[in-house]
Amino acid sequence: MVKEEQEKKLSLKREDFGKDFKWGVSTAAYQIEGSHQADGKGPSIWDIFTAKRGKIYQAHNGNIACDFYNKYEEDLYLMKDLNIHNFRFSISWSRVIPAGVGVPNPEGIDFYNKLIDKCLALDIEPWVTLYHWDLPAALEQKGGWTNREIISWFKDYVTLCVQCFGDRVKNWMVLNEPLVFVGAGYFLGVHAPGKRGMKNFLPAIHHAALCQAEGARIIKQYYPLAKVGTTFSCSFIEPSRPIQKDIMAAQRIDALVNRLFIEPALGMGYPVEDLKFLKKMEKYQLPGDKALLQFDFDFIGVQNYTREIIKHSWFVPYIKARNIKAEKRKVPITAMKWEIYPDSIYQMLKKFNSYKKVRDIYVTENGAAFKDIIEDGRINDKRRTNYLKGYLKAVLQAKKEGMNVKGYFVWSFTDNFEWAEGFRPRFGLVHVDYQTQKRTIKASGKWYSNFLRNQVK
Ligand code: NOJ
Repeated sequence: MVKEEQEKKLSLKREDFGKDFKWGVSTAAYQIEGSHQADGKGPSIWDIFTAKRGKIYQAHNGNIACDFYNKYEEDLYLMKDLNIHNFRFSISWSRVIPAGVGVPNPEGIDFYNKLIDKCLALDIEPWVTLYHWDLPAALEQKGGWTNREIISWFKDYVTLCVQCFGDRVKNWMVLNEPLVFVGAGYFLGVHAPGKRGMKNFLPAIHHAALCQAEGARIIKQYYPLAKVGTTFSCSFIEPSRPIQKDIMAAQRIDALVNRLFIEPALGMGYPVEDLKFLKKMEKYQLPGDKALLQFDFDFIGVQNYTREIIKHSWFVPYIKARNIKAEKRKVPITAMKWEIYPDSIYQMLKKFNSYKKVRDIYVTENGAAFKDIIEDGRINDKRRTNYLKGYLKAVLQAKKEGMNVKGYFVWSFTDNFEWAEGFRPRFGLVHVDYQTQKRTIKASGKWYSNFLRNQVK
């Protein structure tokens, strides 16, 4: 049977995923909270970066965003109404420690206490990401992720979070997509803090990888029974043509995109064989680092949206490879111009599941941006629903084949600030009118809610 037929045959019922499967939605502090200067919050690199000219689509910023800081209760009630009982959000470091190190901010801590308590009161399980890209600006002035001191700054921050919230939070994620924040922020310069080049990229990689494990150790030290994970962006990588040059190019991109941060955590070291430029990272490594990079995570968060088709290219420095844009391949795409390719998530679950030391896997992000049209107060976003169904079928296939996938979180609950793309791409199950902050449940949100009806948490 060909794959498409096979896929069609897999109908979608929540029960098929098992009663313990966790269903949720994902968000991140800077993308939803707003209130960027409220109650003693310090600036983050995203406050600084969005204020620079020409960095963000139409000079948008997260100063107000979805006003989640003020509307969290309303949003949590809506979440509960939609039968969603697992909520992934992140803590803003500069809200709880305004200068990044030193004196904590009681009002910032209070916000997360109230948020967590409200979740629990509504029977919503909090899943907390410690770092979703908003480094305190004061730390960037000292070099940010390029400065090895970040390990001690980060450890202090994690310690505070665990001391304050660890009695109620049972599921933690240390980092969100390290490759993206070091790649876009410290190599390409298209995300905060806007740094470029190998001299920034290489130390940032190593320090992020060290923090990933060090942060996890701290949580376990305080709460041995807590579930500690970290999350990775990943894309299914395929060569453009079945020729050696493209196959090798795809292998290099795969090492960069899918292996760079998980393999050192598993004790396998960095994928230096495939990425020769990583040899230069030795300069930033100290004796004993290989052991420090390792941590036996309870779970890995897999975040997948699309696949990439790769071609060899002499012109691209270091990696000698480039991707062929989805637009040029005449394939279905989202508003991010990412190819819609459900098999990608199946392939990624297979890949992460094939590491013997990987325990549980959660899809901590998956979703799609489309141009939403409001008609008579309704948003009939069929394409988003179809996207979610297609990818969920692929997740179910992976699960049926015995892969250890334990949950799925849609990106995102509401529309929000999509980094350099501003508010233009809308990923939400719930529409946000940024003028009025009105929330409107999209058809996809209603579909998810129906799908989850009567779920056991
Ligand atoms: C990855 C990131 O974690 C999240 O912040 C972003 O908005 C989504 N994926 C969509 O691009």
